[in-house]
Amino acid sequence: MSEQNTTPAAQMQAPDADALTHEAERVERQTAIKNAPVVIDARGVGKRYEMHRHRSMLLQDTAKIAFSKVEKNYFWALRDVNFQIRKGESVALIGPNGAGKSTLLSLIAKTVCPTEGKIDVRGRVSALLELGAGFHPYFTGRENIFINGIVMGLTRAQIEARMPEIIAFSELEPFIDEPIQNYSSGMLARLGFSVAASVDPEILIVDEALSVGDAAFQEKSFQKIQEFKQQGCTILFVTHSLDLVTKFCDRALLIAQGQVLESGPSEEICESYKVRMEAGTLQGARSPHETVLMPFWKRAVAMGVLAAGLGVVVATGIHFVLGNTAGMEKPAAAKRFEQGQKASP
Ligand SMILES: Nc1ncnc2c1ncn2[C@@H]1O[C@H](COP(=O)(O)OP(=O)(O)OP(=O)(O)O)[C@@H](O)[C@H]1O
Ligand SMILES: [Mg+2]
Repeated sequence: MSEQNTTPAAQMQAPDADALTHEAERVERQTAIKNAPVVIDARGVGKRYEMHRHRSMLLQDTAKIAFSKVEKNYFWALRDVNFQIRKGESVALIGPNGAGKSTLLSLIAKTVCPTEGKIDVRGRVSALLELGAGFHPYFTGRENIFINGIVMGLTRAQIEARMPEIIAFSELEPFIDEPIQNYSSGMLARLGFSVAASVDPEILIVDEALSVGDAAFQEKSFQKIQEFKQQGCTILFVTHSLDLVTKFCDRALLIAQGQVLESGPSEEICESYKVRMEAGTLQGARSPHETVLMPFWKRAVAMGVLAAGLGVVVATGIHFVLGNTAGMEKPAAAKRFEQGQKASP
Protein backbone atom coordinates (compact mmCIF):
# COMPACT_ATOMS: atom_id res chain seq x y z
CA MET A 1 0.00 0.00 0.00
CA SER A 2 1.47 3.37 -0.97
CA GLU A 3 1.89 5.92 1.76
CA GLN A 4 0.10 9.22 1.36
CA ASN A 5 2.21 12.39 1.55
CA THR A 6 0.68 14.28 4.47
CA THR A 7 3.32 16.95 5.02
CA PRO A 8 1.88 20.48 5.39
CA ALA A 9 3.57 21.59 2.12
CA ALA A 10 2.04 18.69 0.20
CA GLN A 11 -1.37 19.40 1.73
CA MET A 12 -1.15 23.02 0.59
CA GLN A 13 -0.37 21.97 -2.98
CA ALA A 14 -2.88 19.10 -3.16
CA PRO A 15 -5.82 20.26 -5.26
CA ASP A 16 -9.19 20.16 -3.55
CA ALA A 17 -11.24 17.21 -4.89
CA ASP A 18 -14.43 19.28 -4.88
CA ALA A 19 -12.77 22.08 -6.85
CA LEU A 20 -11.49 19.56 -9.41
CA THR A 21 -14.94 18.04 -9.87
CA HIS A 22 -16.44 21.49 -10.17
CA GLU A 23 -13.86 22.51 -12.79
CA ALA A 24 -14.40 19.26 -14.75
CA GLU A 25 -18.17 19.88 -14.74
CA ARG A 26 -17.64 23.45 -15.88
CA VAL A 27 -15.44 22.40 -18.80
CA GLU A 28 -17.91 19.65 -19.79
CA ARG A 29 -20.78 22.12 -19.69
CA GLN A 30 -18.89 24.68 -21.77
CA THR A 31 -18.07 22.05 -24.42
CA ALA A 32 -21.71 20.98 -24.55
CA ILE A 33 -22.85 24.61 -24.94
CA LYS A 34 -20.27 25.28 -27.69
CA ASN A 35 -21.78 22.48 -29.76
CA ALA A 36 -25.41 23.34 -28.99
CA PRO A 37 -27.61 25.08 -31.57
CA VAL A 38 -28.18 28.85 -31.46
CA VAL A 39 -31.62 29.60 -30.00
CA ILE A 40 -31.47 33.41 -29.82
CA ASP A 41 -29.88 35.30 -32.68
CA ALA A 42 -29.92 39.12 -32.66
CA ARG A 43 -28.64 40.87 -35.78
CA GLY A 44 -28.40 44.65 -35.92
CA VAL A 45 -31.29 45.06 -33.48
CA GLY A 46 -32.45 48.56 -32.58
CA LYS A 47 -35.43 49.87 -30.62
CA ARG A 48 -36.50 53.48 -30.97
CA TYR A 49 -39.07 55.23 -28.81
CA GLU A 50 -40.80 58.51 -29.48
CA MET A 51 -40.24 60.99 -26.67
CA HIS A 52 -42.74 63.32 -24.95
CA ARG A 53 -45.57 61.71 -26.85
CA HIS A 54 -48.85 62.97 -25.50
CA ARG A 55 -52.16 63.89 -27.06
CA SER A 56 -53.29 67.39 -26.29
CA MET A 57 -56.31 69.43 -27.35
CA LEU A 58 -56.88 69.92 -31.07
CA LEU A 59 -56.13 73.67 -30.99
CA GLN A 60 -52.93 73.15 -29.00
CA ASP A 61 -51.78 70.44 -31.40
CA THR A 62 -52.47 72.67 -34.40
CA ALA A 63 -50.62 75.61 -32.84
CA LYS A 64 -47.70 73.31 -32.02
CA ILE A 65 -47.51 72.11 -35.62
CA ALA A 66 -47.75 75.69 -36.94
CA PHE A 67 -45.03 77.20 -34.76
CA SER A 68 -42.74 74.33 -33.77
CA LYS A 69 -39.67 73.48 -35.81
CA VAL A 70 -39.42 69.94 -34.45
CA GLU A 71 -41.97 67.32 -35.44
CA LYS A 72 -40.73 64.39 -33.32
CA ASN A 73 -37.96 63.51 -30.89
CA TYR A 74 -36.79 59.95 -31.01
CA PHE A 75 -34.72 58.08 -28.51
CA TRP A 76 -32.84 54.87 -29.29
CA ALA A 77 -33.10 52.56 -26.27
CA LEU A 78 -31.04 49.96 -28.17
CA ARG A 79 -28.96 50.30 -31.31
CA ASP A 80 -26.93 47.90 -33.41
CA VAL A 81 -27.16 45.01 -30.97
CA ASN A 82 -25.65 41.71 -32.15
CA PHE A 83 -25.29 38.52 -30.13
CA GLN A 84 -26.10 34.83 -30.13
CA ILE A 85 -27.19 32.59 -27.28
CA ARG A 86 -26.93 28.81 -27.50
CA LYS A 87 -29.32 26.21 -26.14
CA GLY A 88 -28.75 25.52 -22.45
CA GLU A 89 -26.69 28.66 -21.76
CA SER A 90 -27.51 30.80 -18.75
CA VAL A 91 -26.72 34.39 -19.58
CA ALA A 92 -26.91 37.50 -17.42
CA LEU A 93 -27.55 40.96 -18.82
CA ILE A 94 -25.83 43.50 -16.61
CA GLY A 95 -25.38 47.23 -16.89
CA PRO A 96 -26.37 50.58 -15.37
CA ASN A 97 -29.95 51.85 -15.05
CA GLY A 98 -31.54 52.79 -18.35
CA ALA A 99 -28.96 50.80 -20.36
CA GLY A 100 -31.59 48.85 -22.30
CA LYS A 101 -31.56 45.48 -20.50
CA SER A 102 -35.32 45.22 -19.93
CA THR A 103 -35.99 46.48 -23.46
CA LEU A 104 -33.80 43.69 -24.81
CA LEU A 105 -35.64 41.07 -22.73
CA SER A 106 -38.98 42.43 -24.00
CA LEU A 107 -37.75 42.11 -27.58
CA ILE A 108 -36.75 38.49 -26.96
CA ALA A 109 -40.09 37.79 -25.25
CA LYS A 110 -41.77 39.45 -28.28
CA THR A 111 -43.81 41.83 -26.14
CA VAL A 112 -42.08 44.66 -28.07
CA CYS A 113 -41.07 44.75 -31.76
CA PRO A 114 -37.65 45.94 -32.92
CA THR A 115 -37.54 49.17 -34.93
CA GLU A 116 -34.67 47.78 -37.00
CA GLY A 117 -32.76 44.53 -37.32
CA LYS A 118 -33.94 41.03 -36.62
CA ILE A 119 -34.14 38.84 -33.55
CA ASP A 120 -34.77 35.11 -34.05
CA VAL A 121 -35.93 33.12 -31.06
CA ARG A 122 -36.32 29.34 -31.32
CA GLY A 123 -38.17 27.60 -28.51
CA ARG A 124 -41.03 28.11 -26.07
CA VAL A 125 -40.37 31.31 -24.15
CA SER A 126 -41.63 31.96 -20.65
CA ALA A 127 -40.96 35.42 -19.32
CA LEU A 128 -41.15 37.17 -15.97
CA LEU A 129 -40.68 40.76 -17.05
CA GLU A 130 -41.70 43.83 -15.02
CA LEU A 131 -43.80 43.28 -11.92
CA GLY A 132 -47.42 42.65 -12.86
CA ALA A 133 -46.69 42.75 -16.60
CA GLY A 134 -49.38 40.78 -18.39
CA PHE A 135 -51.62 40.75 -15.29
CA HIS A 136 -54.93 42.54 -15.01
CA PRO A 137 -55.31 44.42 -11.71
CA TYR A 138 -59.09 43.87 -11.39
CA PHE A 139 -58.91 40.08 -11.90
CA THR A 140 -58.11 37.67 -9.10
CA GLY A 141 -54.87 35.76 -8.79
CA ARG A 142 -56.61 32.61 -10.06
CA GLU A 143 -58.11 34.43 -13.08
CA ASN A 144 -54.74 35.95 -13.89
CA ILE A 145 -53.13 32.51 -13.81
CA PHE A 146 -55.70 31.46 -16.42
CA ILE A 147 -55.10 34.49 -18.65
CA ASN A 148 -51.32 34.12 -18.46
CA GLY A 149 -51.43 30.39 -19.04
CA ILE A 150 -53.52 30.91 -22.20
CA VAL A 151 -51.14 33.66 -23.41
CA MET A 152 -48.20 31.31 -22.85
CA GLY A 153 -49.87 28.65 -24.99
CA LEU A 154 -51.41 26.28 -22.45
CA THR A 155 -54.90 24.85 -22.97
CA ARG A 156 -57.68 25.34 -20.41
CA ALA A 157 -57.38 21.69 -19.32
CA GLN A 158 -53.60 22.03 -18.88
CA ILE A 159 -54.02 25.18 -16.76
CA GLU A 160 -56.68 23.52 -14.59
CA ALA A 161 -54.40 20.52 -14.08
CA ARG A 162 -51.44 22.74 -13.10
CA MET A 163 -53.44 25.25 -11.02
CA PRO A 164 -52.95 23.53 -7.60
CA GLU A 165 -49.19 23.24 -8.23
CA ILE A 166 -48.93 26.92 -9.28
CA ILE A 167 -50.88 28.11 -6.24
CA ALA A 168 -48.86 25.87 -3.92
CA PHE A 169 -45.55 27.16 -5.33
CA SER A 170 -46.67 30.78 -4.93
CA GLU A 171 -47.89 30.11 -1.35
CA LEU A 172 -50.73 32.56 -2.08
CA GLU A 173 -53.62 30.17 -1.33
CA PRO A 174 -55.43 32.50 1.16
CA PHE A 175 -55.37 35.42 -1.33
CA ILE A 176 -55.72 33.62 -4.63
CA ASP A 177 -59.34 34.75 -5.12
CA GLU A 178 -58.59 38.40 -4.30
CA PRO A 179 -58.12 40.98 -7.10
CA ILE A 180 -54.39 41.35 -7.63
CA GLN A 181 -54.59 45.14 -7.27
CA ASN A 182 -54.58 44.37 -3.53
CA TYR A 183 -51.38 42.29 -3.77
CA SER A 184 -48.04 43.53 -2.49
CA SER A 185 -45.04 43.69 -4.87
CA GLY A 186 -43.64 40.49 -3.40
CA MET A 187 -46.97 38.71 -3.88
CA LEU A 188 -47.04 39.82 -7.53
CA ALA A 189 -43.50 38.49 -8.00
CA ARG A 190 -44.56 35.18 -6.45
CA LEU A 191 -47.57 34.89 -8.74
CA GLY A 192 -45.57 35.91 -11.84
CA PHE A 193 -42.72 33.49 -11.23
CA SER A 194 -45.03 30.61 -10.32
CA VAL A 195 -46.90 30.99 -13.62
CA ALA A 196 -43.71 31.48 -15.67
CA ALA A 197 -42.19 28.35 -14.12
CA SER A 198 -45.27 26.25 -14.77
CA VAL A 199 -45.16 26.22 -18.56
CA ASP A 200 -42.09 23.95 -19.07
CA PRO A 201 -40.10 26.73 -20.73
CA GLU A 202 -37.33 26.10 -23.22
CA ILE A 203 -36.18 29.68 -22.76
CA LEU A 204 -36.78 31.29 -19.37
CA ILE A 205 -36.47 35.06 -19.12
CA VAL A 206 -36.36 36.68 -15.69
CA ASP A 207 -36.07 40.43 -15.22
CA GLU A 208 -35.14 41.66 -11.75
CA ALA A 209 -38.78 41.32 -10.61
CA LEU A 210 -37.72 38.46 -8.34
CA SER A 211 -35.64 40.80 -6.20
CA VAL A 212 -38.78 42.05 -4.42
CA GLY A 213 -39.61 38.53 -3.23
CA ASP A 214 -38.59 37.69 0.35
CA ALA A 215 -35.42 35.67 1.04
CA ALA A 216 -37.30 32.37 1.31
CA PHE A 217 -39.09 32.83 -2.01
CA GLN A 218 -35.94 34.01 -3.77
CA GLU A 219 -34.12 30.90 -2.55
CA LYS A 220 -36.97 28.66 -3.74
CA SER A 221 -37.10 30.42 -7.13
CA PHE A 222 -33.36 30.09 -7.68
CA GLN A 223 -33.56 26.40 -6.87
CA LYS A 224 -36.29 26.11 -9.50
CA ILE A 225 -34.18 28.05 -12.02
CA GLN A 226 -31.25 25.76 -11.21
CA GLU A 227 -33.49 22.75 -11.98
CA PHE A 228 -34.43 24.30 -15.34
CA LYS A 229 -30.74 24.91 -16.02
CA GLN A 230 -29.89 21.26 -15.33
CA GLN A 231 -32.70 20.17 -17.66
CA GLY A 232 -31.06 22.13 -20.51
CA CYS A 233 -33.33 25.19 -20.43
CA THR A 234 -31.80 28.43 -21.77
CA ILE A 235 -31.93 31.16 -19.14
CA LEU A 236 -31.69 34.91 -19.53
CA PHE A 237 -31.42 36.89 -16.44
CA VAL A 238 -31.30 40.61 -15.59
CA THR A 239 -30.00 41.50 -12.17
CA HIS A 240 -27.93 44.12 -10.40
CA SER A 241 -26.58 41.48 -8.00
CA LEU A 242 -23.16 40.56 -9.40
CA ASP A 243 -22.81 37.74 -6.84
CA LEU A 244 -25.81 36.03 -8.39
CA VAL A 245 -24.35 36.49 -11.86
CA THR A 246 -21.02 34.86 -11.01
CA LYS A 247 -22.69 32.10 -9.02
CA PHE A 248 -25.33 31.27 -11.53
CA CYS A 249 -24.52 32.31 -15.10
CA ASP A 250 -22.11 30.88 -17.69
CA ARG A 251 -21.82 34.15 -19.52
CA ALA A 252 -22.67 37.81 -19.10
CA LEU A 253 -23.40 40.61 -21.55
CA LEU A 254 -22.45 44.08 -20.38
CA ILE A 255 -24.99 46.55 -21.76
CA ALA A 256 -24.67 50.31 -21.64
CA GLN A 257 -26.11 53.11 -23.74
CA GLY A 258 -28.21 50.63 -25.70
CA GLN A 259 -25.29 48.52 -26.90
CA VAL A 260 -23.55 45.29 -25.93
CA LEU A 261 -20.15 46.52 -24.77
CA GLU A 262 -18.70 43.17 -23.74
CA SER A 263 -19.64 39.51 -23.72
CA GLY A 264 -17.75 36.72 -21.97
CA PRO A 265 -17.41 34.56 -18.85
CA SER A 266 -19.43 35.98 -15.95
CA GLU A 267 -16.45 36.61 -13.61
CA GLU A 268 -14.53 38.57 -16.25
CA ILE A 269 -17.47 40.70 -17.31
CA CYS A 270 -18.52 41.45 -13.71
CA GLU A 271 -14.96 42.51 -12.93
CA SER A 272 -14.85 44.77 -15.98
CA TYR A 273 -18.24 46.24 -15.04
CA LYS A 274 -17.01 47.06 -11.51
CA VAL A 275 -13.84 48.69 -12.88
CA ARG A 276 -15.80 50.78 -15.40
CA MET A 277 -18.34 51.82 -12.74
CA GLU A 278 -15.61 52.86 -10.32
CA ALA A 279 -13.89 54.84 -13.08
CA GLY A 280 -17.24 56.48 -13.89
CA THR A 281 -16.96 55.64 -17.58
CA LEU A 282 -20.29 53.87 -17.93
CA GLN A 283 -23.47 55.69 -18.83
CA GLY A 284 -26.96 54.21 -18.81
CA ALA A 285 -29.21 55.57 -21.52
CA ARG A 286 -28.13 56.59 -25.00
CA SER A 287 -27.79 60.15 -26.14
CA PRO A 288 -28.16 62.32 -28.12
CA HIS A 289 -31.72 62.02 -29.28
CA GLU A 290 -32.76 62.01 -32.89
CA THR A 291 -34.88 64.89 -34.12
CA VAL A 292 -37.21 65.00 -37.11
CA LEU A 293 -37.95 68.54 -38.36
CA MET A 294 -41.51 69.67 -39.06
CA PRO A 295 -42.16 69.49 -42.83
CA PHE A 296 -43.04 72.85 -44.40
CA TRP A 297 -46.36 71.64 -45.84
CA LYS A 298 -47.61 70.58 -42.37
CA ARG A 299 -46.79 74.00 -40.93
CA ALA A 300 -48.54 75.70 -43.87
CA VAL A 301 -51.70 73.57 -43.43
CA ALA A 302 -51.72 74.16 -39.65
CA MET A 303 -51.32 77.94 -40.17
CA GLY A 304 -54.24 77.84 -42.63
CA VAL A 305 -56.43 75.97 -40.13
CA LEU A 306 -55.50 78.42 -37.35
CA ALA A 307 -56.20 81.42 -39.59
CA ALA A 308 -59.60 79.97 -40.61
CA GLY A 309 -60.45 79.26 -36.93
CA LEU A 310 -59.47 82.79 -35.95
CA GLY A 311 -61.62 84.15 -38.83
CA VAL A 312 -64.67 82.21 -37.60
CA VAL A 313 -64.18 83.50 -34.02
CA VAL A 314 -63.83 87.13 -35.18
CA ALA A 315 -66.84 86.86 -37.53
CA THR A 316 -69.02 85.39 -34.74
CA GLY A 317 -67.96 88.20 -32.38
CA ILE A 318 -68.79 90.89 -34.96
CA HIS A 319 -72.15 89.25 -35.64
CA PHE A 320 -72.96 89.19 -31.93
CA VAL A 321 -71.97 92.84 -31.34
CA LEU A 322 -73.80 94.09 -34.42
CA GLY A 323 -76.83 91.98 -33.47
CA ASN A 324 -77.08 93.88 -30.19
CA THR A 325 -76.41 97.37 -31.56
CA ALA A 326 -77.83 97.45 -35.11
CA GLY A 327 -81.10 95.57 -34.51
CA MET A 328 -79.97 92.39 -36.30
CA GLU A 329 -81.65 89.20 -35.23
CA LYS A 330 -80.04 87.90 -32.05
CA PRO A 331 -78.68 84.35 -31.88
CA ALA A 332 -81.22 81.81 -30.52
CA ALA A 333 -79.13 81.10 -27.40
CA ALA A 334 -79.06 84.82 -26.48
CA LYS A 335 -82.87 85.02 -26.88
CA ARG A 336 -83.41 81.98 -24.66
CA PHE A 337 -81.09 83.50 -22.04
CA GLU A 338 -83.08 86.79 -22.01
CA GLN A 339 -86.43 84.96 -21.82
CA GLY A 340 -85.16 82.89 -18.88
CA GLN A 341 -84.10 86.05 -17.02
CA LYS A 342 -87.53 87.72 -17.52
CA ALA A 343 -89.39 84.62 -16.30
CA SER A 344 -87.44 84.48 -13.04
CA PRO A 345 -88.77 86.66 -10.12
N1 LIG B 1 -42.04 52.64 -23.57
C1 LIG B 1 -41.00 53.47 -23.54
N2 LIG B 1 -41.08 54.72 -24.06
C2 LIG B 1 -40.03 55.55 -24.05
N3 LIG B 1 -38.81 55.24 -23.54
C3 LIG B 1 -38.66 54.02 -23.00
C4 LIG B 1 -39.74 53.07 -22.96
N4 LIG B 1 -39.28 51.94 -22.37
C5 LIG B 1 -38.00 52.18 -22.04
N5 LIG B 1 -37.63 53.41 -22.43
C6 LIG B 1 -36.31 54.03 -22.27
O1 LIG B 1 -35.35 53.12 -22.78
C7 LIG B 1 -34.18 53.17 -21.99
C8 LIG B 1 -33.83 51.75 -21.57
O2 LIG B 1 -34.81 51.32 -20.65
P1 LIG B 1 -34.74 49.89 -19.96
O3 LIG B 1 -35.95 49.74 -19.12
O4 LIG B 1 -34.50 48.86 -21.00
O5 LIG B 1 -33.43 50.04 -19.05
P2 LIG B 1 -32.80 48.99 -18.06
O6 LIG B 1 -31.42 48.70 -18.52
O7 LIG B 1 -33.70 47.82 -17.87
O8 LIG B 1 -32.69 49.84 -16.73
P3 LIG B 1 -32.90 49.40 -15.18
O9 LIG B 1 -31.62 48.79 -14.72
O10 LIG B 1 -33.18 50.69 -14.51
O11 LIG B 1 -34.06 48.46 -15.11
C9 LIG B 1 -34.46 54.10 -20.81
O12 LIG B 1 -33.86 55.34 -21.06
C10 LIG B 1 -35.96 54.24 -20.81
O13 LIG B 1 -36.35 55.53 -20.40
MG1 LIG C 1 -34.89 47.08 -16.27
